[in-house]
Amino acid sequence: MNSTPAIQIIEPPAAPGPPAAPGQLARRFPANFVWGTATSAYQIEGAAREDGRGDSIWDVFCRRPGVIRDGSSGERACDHYHRFEADLDLMAELGVRAYRFSISWPRVQPLGRGAWNEAGFAFYDRLIAGLALRGIAAHVTLHHWDLPQALQDRGGWANRDTARCFVDYAVEVGRRFGARAASIATLNEPWVIAFLGHELGIFAPGEKCRRTAMQVAHHLLVSHGLAVREMRAAGCTTPLGIVLNQSPVHAATDSAVDRAKASLEDGLVVRWYMDPLLRGSYPRDVLAHLGADAPRVETGDMELIRQPLDFLGVNYYTRNVAAVDAQDGDTERRRKLTDMGWEVFPDGLTELLVRLKADYALPPIYITENGAAYQDRLVGDRVADPDRIEFLQGHIAALADACEAGVDVRGYFVWSLLDNFEWADGYSKRFGIVYVDYGSQRRILKDSAIWYRDFLRGG
Ligand code: FCB
Repeated sequence: MNSTPAIQIIEPPAAPGPPAAPGQLARRFPANFVWGTATSAYQIEGAAREDGRGDSIWDVFCRRPGVIRDGSSGERACDHYHRFEADLDLMAELGVRAYRFSISWPRVQPLGRGAWNEAGFAFYDRLIAGLALRGIAAHVTLHHWDLPQALQDRGGWANRDTARCFVDYAVEVGRRFGARAASIATLNEPWVIAFLGHELGIFAPGEKCRRTAMQVAHHLLVSHGLAVREMRAAGCTTPLGIVLNQSPVHAATDSAVDRAKASLEDGLVVRWYMDPLLRGSYPRDVLAHLGADAPRVETGDMELIRQPLDFLGVNYYTRNVAAVDAQDGDTERRRKLTDMGWEVFPDGLTELLVRLKADYALPPIYITENGAAYQDRLVGDRVADPDRIEFLQGHIAALADACEAGVDVRGYFVWSLLDNFEWADGYSKRFGIVYVDYGSQRRILKDSAIWYRDFLRGG
C-alpha cells in the first residue's frame, strides 16, 4: 500500500524569531549527536590525471562545450588530493568530529572493473589515517556520481552489469576500510543520477531519455541492495546505508491540478526511492503514470533492494512547490532564496522527517547534507556570510524540532566544508563554510565556520 503524501498549501513565511544562542541550540541535541561537514571526491580532489586515476563521466562531460556554466571542471578543484592534511587541520580547528567524503571509484579502479589502483587506495588510506589521528570519524560514500568512464562506454547505469561491477568495488572498499569507517553509504542521491543525468541531461552523462532514466534508477537501487547484501556476506560490520535527496512537495494553490502534480512529484522524488528501499515495492501511482517508461524489473529485484538498512542519509536543501501554471510556483517575489535560487525553508526539514517517520519503518537518520550557496566576498581576510549562518541555525533548529517530535536523527553534516566544484554551475556557486581562493588555493574560514565552531563548543 502506498500512502498519499500530505499535501500542504504554501502560506506566507512566518517572521523569523530571535536567533538562539549557539549554546542553547546545541543543548537541544543529545551529547552523542554526530556533527560534521561533507564533501565529495570529484568536487574537491582535483589531481584528475595523477597516480593512475581513470576518467570519470564527469571528466568527460565537462569537456563538452557549454554544459558547465563557467566552462570549468574538477580537474584541479580544491586540490584537496595534495592539501588534505591542511584541510583535516581546518576541521580539527573547527572542532568537527565527523567527516563525510566520497571515494572516487576511477581513482581506485580506473576502468571500473579489473585491476585495483594501489596508489588510489593509498590516498584514502592516508586520508582515513589523518582523520583518525585528529579524532574525526570517517563517513564514507562509495558513489557520489563519478562513474568510471570505461563503464559508461559499456552503457553506464543503463547497463545492468554496472551493478555487478559496483558490488565488486563496494566489497573491496568494505574489506580495506570498513573497520576504520564509522559508516558506509552506497550511493549519493540516485534521483539526481537518474533524472538530472539521464532525463534532463544537465548532469553527466548527459542523456535525455525518460525510459533510460527510470531504468537507471532501478539499476541504482539494485546495485545498492546487492552491495549491502554482499558487503555483509563478506564480513563487513560497518553500518551501511544510502543517501537520498528529499523534499516535501507543496501544491502552489489549492486547485486539484496542482495537488495532483504535487502528489506525482512526491512519488517521483521521495516514494520512488523510499518505497522500494523500505517496503519492497514501487509506488503504484507512479508506475501507472510512467506506463511504458516504467523500468524492467527482474524476479527477486524488489526483495534485493529492500535490504535492512543501518541508517538512511537525507540531504535536505529546500521544499519543492508544484504548480501547473508556472506563475503560481514563482515564489521568488515573496521568499528568501539562496544563490542557487532555492527557497530557504527550514520548516520543510521538520515536516519531511515527521512525515517519513509516519509513513515508513525508518532506520536511524543522518542529515548527510544541508547548506546554502551565497555570493560570498573575501574582504581583507574576512568573509561575512550572515545569510549562511541564519540558514544553518534555522535548519539545525528545525532538526531539533524533528528530534523532539520523536524522529530518530543521529547526526548532521554541513554541505560543505569547502567551496568547491558545484557540478553544472562550476565554481560560480559557493557552498563552503570555508572560502577557497582558487587562484592561490588559500582557505579562509567564513563567519559561518566560526559560528559552527562556536556552536559545536556550546554542545
Ligand atoms: C547535492 C549534491 C552535492 C552538492 C549539493 C549542493 O545534490 O549531493 O554534491 O552539489 O547538492
